[in-house]
Amino acid sequence: MVVLGIETSCDETSCALVKDGKYVLSHVIASSAELHAKTGGIIPENAAREQIKSMLPVLNETLEKAFPNKSHNDYKDEIDAIAVTYGPGLIGSLLVGVETAKTLSFLWDKPLIPVNHLVAHIYAAWIDDKKNKNTLPKLPALALVVSGGHTDLVYMKTHSDFTWIGGTRDDAAGEAFDKTARLLDLPYPGGPSIAKESHKFFSKQKDASKIKLKYFPRPMIGSETIEWSFSGLKTAVLNEVKNMNISPSEREKYAAEIQESIVDILVNKSLKAVRKYDPMSFILAGGVAANERLREKFIYQFSKSKMKTTFHVAQKQYCTDNAAMIATAAYYQNKPLIWNEVSANPQLEIVTI
Ligand code: KG4
Ligand code: ZN
Repeated sequence: MVVLGIETSCDETSCALVKDGKYVLSHVIASSAELHAKTGGIIPENAAREQIKSMLPVLNETLEKAFPNKSHNDYKDEIDAIAVTYGPGLIGSLLVGVETAKTLSFLWDKPLIPVNHLVAHIYAAWIDDKKNKNTLPKLPALALVVSGGHTDLVYMKTHSDFTWIGGTRDDAAGEAFDKTARLLDLPYPGGPSIAKESHKFFSKQKDASKIKLKYFPRPMIGSETIEWSFSGLKTAVLNEVKNMNISPSEREKYAAEIQESIVDILVNKSLKAVRKYDPMSFILAGGVAANERLREKFIYQFSKSKMKTTFHVAQKQYCTDNAAMIATAAYYQNKPLIWNEVSANPQLEIVTI
């Protein structure tokens, strides 16, 4: 089954063709992040305008890459279904993808599968690109979705039975990266900027493994509940750096401290949940899962534990927003609707109760 995935929930415009929920035939992303770096964050109107411009060129390139010997009129014969992110996200941005998908479904007479963006982040772990040597996750699984607006822990009993078991009381993990990066005068998006500065810090240390980074607080780390809070970290960083001229080396050190604090809290609480729920697999997902330090710490903790649970994380390019995960999710959650029954839902949650 070949699915055309379309993703436009935030500042990316992406299309992908994925075979059998696994093999990526082609994958194209256009990002307007550079535009948003100038304003220090996303202005939704600007994001949607860029997506309107990018949508058809990205779609065309995706089809041409996968089927170089076919003509435009033959593309539809190669595709079995169309999948699109219908929420959560920015309404103007979502509409670009949803209306494009509806039009294609109508014109080509193909099933249209609406996909929850947050659930799709989890399915990125099922993408089996040639470079991915990992085995696929097994169910039941626990999934931690850490993105720009969400920190959600979900118990996946089957592909159609998801239970939300914990999340953040305030800011999301990605938001904590983005907001603290701003306090350090680092460019948007904050996560990769903090990671880059931290890397500079670690690479200057004689023995990076001996470095203890404990300067900023780890809110709620001692509590037994599966919930996070990141606003205290943000306040601690604000109190530290306000009215201060930070030198480049201090900025690197603060970035490393911030990253370490966020990583520690995420890993610690996730392991508590793994011990409690004893799943077959644990999946780290969402844009923040591209963070090298977070991946390393999870891999280390799982390798030294005696737990049966296997650890899974997608290749970095499939952790941040992309359409391959949308097509893969649609393969496993194949619930098509008639094109005129699909509409964007900016407030969609990871699990509808
Ligand atoms: O999933 P995603 O691409 O978009 C949303 O659905 O929100 O996640 C974006 C978030 C941003 O907060 C960004 O700063 C963060 O993921 N992020 C990272 C890294 N790459 C992206 N955070 C830490 N380290 C990274 N390497
Ligand atoms: Zn996302």
